[in-house]
Amino acid sequence: MAKLTKLEDIVSLCKRRGFIFQSSEIYGGLASCYDYGPLGVELKNNVKKAWWKSVVQMRDDVVGLDCSILMHPMVWKSSGHADKFADLIAECKKCNTRTRVDHLKEEAAEQADEHTEHVDIDTVAAQAQDLSKKLCPNCGVVGQFTEPMPFKLMFETQMGANVDDSMTMHLRPETAQGIFANFRNVLDTTRVRIPFGIAQIGKSFRNEVTTKAFIFRTREFEQAELEFFCEPGTDEHWFEHWKEARFNWYLDLGLKKENLHFREHDSDELAHYAKGCVDVEYRFPFGSGDWQELEGIANRTDFDLRQHQRGIRTLNKWYESKGYITRIELADEAAEYLKGPLSYFDDQKKQRYIPYVIEPSAGIDRSALAFLVDAYDEEQVRGETRNLLRFHHALAPVKAAIFPLVKKDGMPEIATNIYNDLKKYFNCFYDQKGAVGRRYRRQDEAGTPFCITVDGQSLEDNTVTLRERDSMEQTRVSTGQLLSHLREKLDI
Ligand code: GAP
Repeated sequence: MAKLTKLEDIVSLCKRRGFIFQSSEIYGGLASCYDYGPLGVELKNNVKKAWWKSVVQMRDDVVGLDCSILMHPMVWKSSGHADKFADLIAECKKCNTRTRVDHLKEEAAEQADEHTEHVDIDTVAAQAQDLSKKLCPNCGVVGQFTEPMPFKLMFETQMGANVDDSMTMHLRPETAQGIFANFRNVLDTTRVRIPFGIAQIGKSFRNEVTTKAFIFRTREFEQAELEFFCEPGTDEHWFEHWKEARFNWYLDLGLKKENLHFREHDSDELAHYAKGCVDVEYRFPFGSGDWQELEGIANRTDFDLRQHQRGIRTLNKWYESKGYITRIELADEAAEYLKGPLSYFDDQKKQRYIPYVIEPSAGIDRSALAFLVDAYDEEQVRGETRNLLRFHHALAPVKAAIFPLVKKDGMPEIATNIYNDLKKYFNCFYDQKGAVGRRYRRQDEAGTPFCITVDGQSLEDNTVTLRERDSMEQTRVSTGQLLSHLREKLDI
């Protein structure tokens, strides 16, 4: 039976092989922040490339965007984040540790699933919070908590050098709002017509109360989000479309089907803006050892565009009250829905409406962790343990490693020529140190799908040994055919 992968195995491999390091490790580390090392950055870039390829490049109805992290304070006011983006926390009276209320567990209870990401304080505060049987995760005392209180999750910073006119700004807690704020710009400058989507990958920041499990939940992370704008009434069709597309993306990149499923949100769990939401969950090897959110797919209705339209109006009214001329034509309150700057005019149906939005929102770091966990394997080979990462070719940080069998007889020169040739097309690695068996094992641990060895026979017939990671099968390929052979196998 296959050994169950433990998170410790992944953390250890990531550190040993330079995938992921603790941030600021030389100063003792910074909790919940991580740095991607030489292999990790390649993996992460490949996850982003695969997402972009599937969501933007391969589609005719999605365009990309890259917004700034700092945005006008009105963005967060309109989106609801300024007032509502908080977790409900309780402090243990014994040890003063603060924990998210929805993460507290009862003494003898089974470990609860961790499904709630962030809660709308208005909703949760209204619910009775019985913490009398809950256990402090730090000191283990039962039922000794303060009243739950909201804890704001957005990081604050100051913009501007002068004390008088510096402004408190927020680091974005999601990339989505930059897309909504640019909806009009994209409509006015491209040929897109509804239905269409705007996609973005970028950093987000949340002052999470509970961080956990390596890169699963951190305070600085990367999101890949698509806001797909559609006509009201077609939203359920597009919701189903994106559910299927996003689920298949993970399967196509090699995640095992038995480790992936959907979880529908209950109505009392839905975010304030959502009509429907489903999570793609992965069976991560931590917490209760089971399903955790990888990506959320939400039907956000017309909430965000409507909110921003109201926000523009409020700001413009304020400018007007100060005697300034506003830049955007104001719609009056009654006509707001139909005439606002974030409405859409369908010139074929001669109809104006505020589009509905379907949002598949994925975490790049979380996906990278799932791909690492799923690819990790240990097997016994001739009495030795072989650790390997069975990455999908598209995700493998290095596609091919090139070795001379020995450092003499012209083998390094031939191997170097091959390396210089292949690296123009994909990421390669050259290694001439140590026994060739050890070099193969190092590449197995890095998830490199192919190793190429220049040996004695290469000098005679211009062929090399091509060794495949998963099967360890070795074949001979002529040096002239190597590039086309690999490109076909790697689908590059
Ligand atoms: N725009 C919607 C939104 O941000 P979310 O469920 O809060 O929804 C979407 O976040 C995805 O972002 C999650 O499914 C997860 O993959 C990732 N994510 C959220 N918070 C995270 C954190 N603190 N650390 C790592 N990834 C996170």
